Amino acid sequence: MTGDRVAAPDTAAPAAPPGDAPGTGAGTGAGAGAANCTGPADDDLSVWPHSTTRLSDGDLAVGGVPLTEIADRFGTPAYLLDEAEVRGRCRTYVQAFPDTDVLYAAKAFLCRAMAHWVGEEGLGLDVCSAGELELAVTTGFPASRIVLHGNAKSPEDLRAALRLGVGRIVIDSASEIARLAAAVPPGSRQKVLVRVVPGIAAGGHSKIQTGTEDQKFGLCITDGSAQHAIARILDQPGLELVGLHCHLGSQITAEKPFLCAVRRLVGLMARIKDHHGITLPELDLGGGHGIAYHPDEHSLDIPSLARKVRAELTESCAAAGLAVPHLVVEPGRAIAGPAGVALYHVLSVKRTGDRTFVAVDGGMSDNPRPALYGVRYLPRLIGRRSTAAPAPMTVVGRHCEAGDVLAADTALPSDIRPGDLLAVPVAGAYHLSMASGYNLVGRPPVVAVAGGHARLLVRRESLEDFRNRDVGL
Ligand code: LLP
Repeated sequence: MTGDRVAAPDTAAPAAPPGDAPGTGAGTGAGAGAANCTGPADDDLSVWPHSTTRLSDGDLAVGGVPLTEIADRFGTPAYLLDEAEVRGRCRTYVQAFPDTDVLYAAKAFLCRAMAHWVGEEGLGLDVCSAGELELAVTTGFPASRIVLHGNAKSPEDLRAALRLGVGRIVIDSASEIARLAAAVPPGSRQKVLVRVVPGIAAGGHSKIQTGTEDQKFGLCITDGSAQHAIARILDQPGLELVGLHCHLGSQITAEKPFLCAVRRLVGLMARIKDHHGITLPELDLGGGHGIAYHPDEHSLDIPSLARKVRAELTESCAAAGLAVPHLVVEPGRAIAGPAGVALYHVLSVKRTGDRTFVAVDGGMSDNPRPALYGVRYLPRLIGRRSTAAPAPMTVVGRHCEAGDVLAADTALPSDIRPGDLLAVPVAGAYHLSMASGYNLVGRPPVVAVAGGHARLLVRRESLEDFRNRDVGL
């Protein structure tokens, strides 16, 4: 297989995990239909952080802190992050992937504490803006362990990266080569990788598939753009090409696409060796490791993926007569996602036609994923024990759009009422990092829980924040 020409997108797209309704975003928590009311046991905590425990009054504790206490102390909506869960997930990666650089993809969620935790656990960081970069570096994260990504890096991004001394910059377009080379101070060299498109369709939703030719990221292998960019980089004295990068997409729940990507990138490395006489020392496989949002979904088994990727890399390189490059992976969701829980208060319960709408005090401004990818979550009543039979409900937000739905046809006790507290698990990735200022509702706070204590990491956005930014008349 090594050295194979890539003619068409791979058909190795993962099968939708069980429980996914067609067209709703594979592996993204969709499909909790009315059948759900008698479906996954209400008491199934398999997608909750490992530290989650049941309390006697219908409450749950995460990191030893009752969720009702967090809601009382910090208000709602609020997000909590279980520090031990984040750290445990980092350790799983470090153990599963020895001799590999594991970079946490900051776009999933970044705050100072998060940068600190992942750094302490031995991970590097993948950033894609001067903002993410500067937040991490001013927290003390070593710039040398940071990789800068982006399909359209701004002059400010590149300047910040060079000024702070990031370890690697991943080149995503031909026009970036001269721009970056011109910005590198004379006499120094910036290590770069090239992001290539391996022609592999994988990922939980079309909007988050990035391994095929019909999207904006990377340089194609099939039309020769990747090879052309590589030749141009090798001509630039200020740039040192150290490897190839690919990121197939996100929420991938099968191993096969990653193994196929290894083969294709090793194939390209072999051709680079033939044409240019150089052996690239690094291969960055990106992230995209899928997680379960519902108890009936499965997540990618990281130790198993790591073993197979390592075996494939060794075998492909042996067949191509290449030294095995240093491996890099960039998980985001699989580290932050399952460590987060969103808390909301119910503001109203309304029956319209056949549906019961349960409206909460957050919505698409703190979690745009259902609106973007059709994802549905599994909210749970917290803080009181209900004996009422479960009924299908649609949990909606407070924003001025009918599409502001957090969970359609999900099972909740039929006596749900205003003032109740709902908790949504698997809320740590791509919620707050994608949060918006819609309706000036304000972005929720982030609270860390660990060892029975809760502490504020990021405060709630306030009216004062809105006033301060708005400087004109
Ligand atoms: N590396 C690169 C270059 C990436 O672009 C990404 C994610 C990652 C790593 C991390 O991927 P992860 O392991 O988190 O899947 N907003 C979407 C996800 C977009 C992912 C963007 N890139 C969502 O909510 O599902």
